[in-house]
Amino acid sequence: MSQIAEARLPPPPILDMDPFSDDTIRDPSAFHQALRETAPVVYIEKYGMYAVGRYDEVRTVMSDFARFTSEGGIGLSDIRKPGAWRSPSPITEVDPPRHTAVRGALTKILSPIVIRKWREHFSAEAERLAEEVAGRGDIEAVKDLAEAFVLKVFPDVLGVDMPRDNFIAIGDMNFNQIGPNNDNLKRSLERVEPILDQYQKGFQREGMIAGGFGEKIFQAEDAGDFAPGTAGVQVRSFLRAGVDTTIAGIGHTLNLLARHPDQWAKCVADPLKVRGAFEEGIRLHSPSQVMFRTTTGEQTLSGYRLAPDVKIGNFMGAANRDPRKFDDPDRFDIDRDAAGIHLALGTGAHICIGQMIARLEAECILGALARRVARIDPAGEPEYRLVNTLRTLDRLPLRLVRK
Ligand code: HEM
Repeated sequence: MSQIAEARLPPPPILDMDPFSDDTIRDPSAFHQALRETAPVVYIEKYGMYAVGRYDEVRTVMSDFARFTSEGGIGLSDIRKPGAWRSPSPITEVDPPRHTAVRGALTKILSPIVIRKWREHFSAEAERLAEEVAGRGDIEAVKDLAEAFVLKVFPDVLGVDMPRDNFIAIGDMNFNQIGPNNDNLKRSLERVEPILDQYQKGFQREGMIAGGFGEKIFQAEDAGDFAPGTAGVQVRSFLRAGVDTTIAGIGHTLNLLARHPDQWAKCVADPLKVRGAFEEGIRLHSPSQVMFRTTTGEQTLSGYRLAPDVKIGNFMGAANRDPRKFDDPDRFDIDRDAAGIHLALGTGAHICIGQMIARLEAECILGALARRVARIDPAGEPEYRLVNTLRTLDRLPLRLVRK
């Protein structure tokens, strides 16, 4: 397209909806639908941001770092600007080529061989916990299963010494901070205030338990793989990115399995099918609903002109139900084979580095249940937690019927 023609492209239409209202956080489906159907890219005046919710545009914006940078931060506020300034995460908030070296060093620490060695530990914990909850019958699956499991095994392998209850409060704060400065954020900042000191110490060198991958990150810093003084922030990025997301994904998958007994029956017949169930769980209820980028200059996107230096929200939750990409997108189908296609784990250079860990955790705990539990019945309405950018359950009452 010629430069003159491009200059005549219109700005994106305005979508007058609030992606961070309590109603939308509890049930984002109306917002997702409007976002996808209004235009390939829209402008949301309340937050001065663009937003994309169709599969193709989300994929493009998340991976084209030359036009849509992560260096303004992956949240709504631009971390380079006065008032919002903070140091960037050395992994998530840098673009290639700087990102490439850091990512390479982390990938070495988190190689598939290393992760495979964790299987034994994850699996032993999963079998123990599944045995206990199957014996109990009535459970609140968020606390009793998803949190109990992830808060045991993930900090164990990360090797951080921190009270496990703190993780949830910190995770809420993190995913609230990716969104706007609203009541959800204020409430979670108040909640973490008393534990902030302990938390800051938790990812320093002294807080690392020998043998964990946290310690290996510090050793890699000593070997010159990371910039001096950044290992602690790397460990923090793992803590922030790896706990709540996985708890949320396991919770959504259990909720869907309880409401689709035919799909659970397939898992009971072949426990490896829980892998497909987890992919569907995070596709349909993407734990990380939105991640931001910033336009690097004036840009064009799908026939619209975007102003420079403006935040653009990638609504992965909306893209993962885009009928342009997925047949019958709202259907929970554990044989769909959408791993590597859905965008719940991101795409491009920043695609989730912990995806093998999340998948291993889900496979261990859901598989251990499938070997013991003939039926999962809903035992009450699920409740969602009010966190700006994290789709997660607060309560999920279930009845497990033992084989
Ligand atoms: C179901 C669970 C998970 C979900 C839904 C999830 C989601 C995501 C998404 C969407 C991104 C891309 C961010 C972006 O492009 O700006 C990402 C990156 C990342 N994730 Fe995960 N994640 C999960 C589990 C984990 C786990 C278990 C870990 C820790 C081992 C982890 C660590 C990270 C890190 C460090 C990054 C940044 C990678 C980079 O910037 O190169 N995540 N994750």
